[in-house]
Amino acid sequence: MDFKTALSHQIASAIEKAFSLTPLTEAEIASFLETPPDPAMGDFAFPCFKLAKSLRKGPPMIADALAGVIEADFIARVESVKGYLNFFLDKAIYARDVVTAAAEKGERYGSSDEGAGKKVLLDYSSINIAKRFHIGHLSTTMIGNALYRMYQFRGYEPVGINHLGDWGTQFGKMIAAYKLWGNHDTVEQGGVDEMVKLYVRFDQEAHDDENLAELGRAWFKKLEDGDPEAQEIFAWFKEVTLKDAKRVYDMLGVKFDSYAGESFYIDKMDRVFDELTEKGLLVESEGAQVVELSDYGMPPFIVRKRDGATIYATRDLAAALYRMDTYHFEKCLYVVAYQQDLHFKQLFKVLELMGHEWYKKCEHVSFGMVSYEGETLSTRKGHVVYLEDLLNKSVEKARSIIEEKSPDLENKDEVARKVGIGAVVFYDLYNSRVKDIDFWWDRALNFDGETAPYVQYTHARCCSVLRKAGECSAQPDYAGLTEPEAQDVVRLIEKFPELLTEALDRNEPSMVTRFCVNLAQAFNRFYYECRILDEDMGKRAARLQLTTVVRDLIKTALYLIGVEAPERM
Ligand code: ARG
Repeated sequence: MDFKTALSHQIASAIEKAFSLTPLTEAEIASFLETPPDPAMGDFAFPCFKLAKSLRKGPPMIADALAGVIEADFIARVESVKGYLNFFLDKAIYARDVVTAAAEKGERYGSSDEGAGKKVLLDYSSINIAKRFHIGHLSTTMIGNALYRMYQFRGYEPVGINHLGDWGTQFGKMIAAYKLWGNHDTVEQGGVDEMVKLYVRFDQEAHDDENLAELGRAWFKKLEDGDPEAQEIFAWFKEVTLKDAKRVYDMLGVKFDSYAGESFYIDKMDRVFDELTEKGLLVESEGAQVVELSDYGMPPFIVRKRDGATIYATRDLAAALYRMDTYHFEKCLYVVAYQQDLHFKQLFKVLELMGHEWYKKCEHVSFGMVSYEGETLSTRKGHVVYLEDLLNKSVEKARSIIEEKSPDLENKDEVARKVGIGAVVFYDLYNSRVKDIDFWWDRALNFDGETAPYVQYTHARCCSVLRKAGECSAQPDYAGLTEPEAQDVVRLIEKFPELLTEALDRNEPSMVTRFCVNLAQAFNRFYYECRILDEDMGKRAARLQLTTVVRDLIKTALYLIGVEAPERM
């Protein structure tokens, strides 16, 4: 039963009975129903001041009158308190309805097909060629991955795009450096690290040697003009970078549908300039070409530099147009750090000025910075923490904790991988995304904290209870789920679909992460307070059913944020 709908129906007929009027539709009533902050005030509350005007009576009077005429078997009690009607549902019926509905859907509970036929583009991770994958990329990768899964769960067709940073004059320098000092096998083996070394050396030597800068420019020109050698070397740089990155993506379980990066748009620039010119938006400014945005309180959006080269911004403009043409997206989300807030405000404004009403479908999903045990990351000072190292270290630490806690566990390596990586991902997605994150080992890997290991452990506990219980063929007696601890769990289960809707409205995976913790904590209280394997078989069956639902729901919620759930820990 959908309690909101059923209650709204009851309230509507009560108003009619008491006042012979129908001032609100059932849908309106449903939209006004609230969840009291404290369960002691009921499961639902209806604010009667919503009726005061049309009924010309004070809310307390209205509440008193309605409380007197409402009656239904699923409502245990109605109280009139200060103009509110507080509803207490029949606990057993409430538990029965919520738990059976969830059990029917199993791991798909909370899913829907509301997004059918709608494409959501997610631009995330978007790493740069010849740069190492450091923990600064963790949030974009994991927020994007979580949103991908969440949209998919709601029936949307997500398209994951890794908008590679694979264009720019620095790649001319890279090729020049490689031609001067590079060695194929060293780069092939050393990966991105070797490329970075070459680049750093080039930059240092270019200080004293003017010719080097010139050489770099020449190679970039060759690259732009499609010179086969330049193209071949650069394609290989890309391959080496992606090979390194894919190891990290595999560890994290992250996938992309497209790797169309900045260079993909090089031959799609004319259209941008034609359109900007045609719409009279292109202005000359100190030799550069820009779109003026001072009317909107923003600096000009530069689309062509003085030397004629296009930039990051121009390519984003081309990418937006291309994506709309190609995908006809419902939404295009850019999961990029807050440092680029202005860039995206400008980009969306320019699209609006170009007359593309669909600019409203584009959104910048911004997030804060990551620091490591109190130190901000800075490539210059050498405080760089590579994501792959961090993940490996986490798996190693998880491995030693497991060794200590469960020495007899089979496949410890597999579990350590799920726990170690899960801990990092979960920590990253725990706070609302605008907040900065400071990564600390003891906080991420604490088995009793608000962490992945804690939630995963609760999932494994559910699995273990169910294994031990074996088959239970009795008819569930939902009187077994009327204690406050059981009701808390039921209430969380009931709210999950709504919570997911809100998390998607706000593009906020942390709501799901927090839900995992709340559900795990509530289940553990239930586990300690109520005997699941009760002698009364009816109660036992109901409690086992609740345990099954919690097991599946934790697994689902963890999956949605990109964390795996081992069955034994
Ligand atoms: N590669 C860029 C960076 O590391 C992020 C690109 C984000 N996506 C985009 N369409 N601009 O800063």
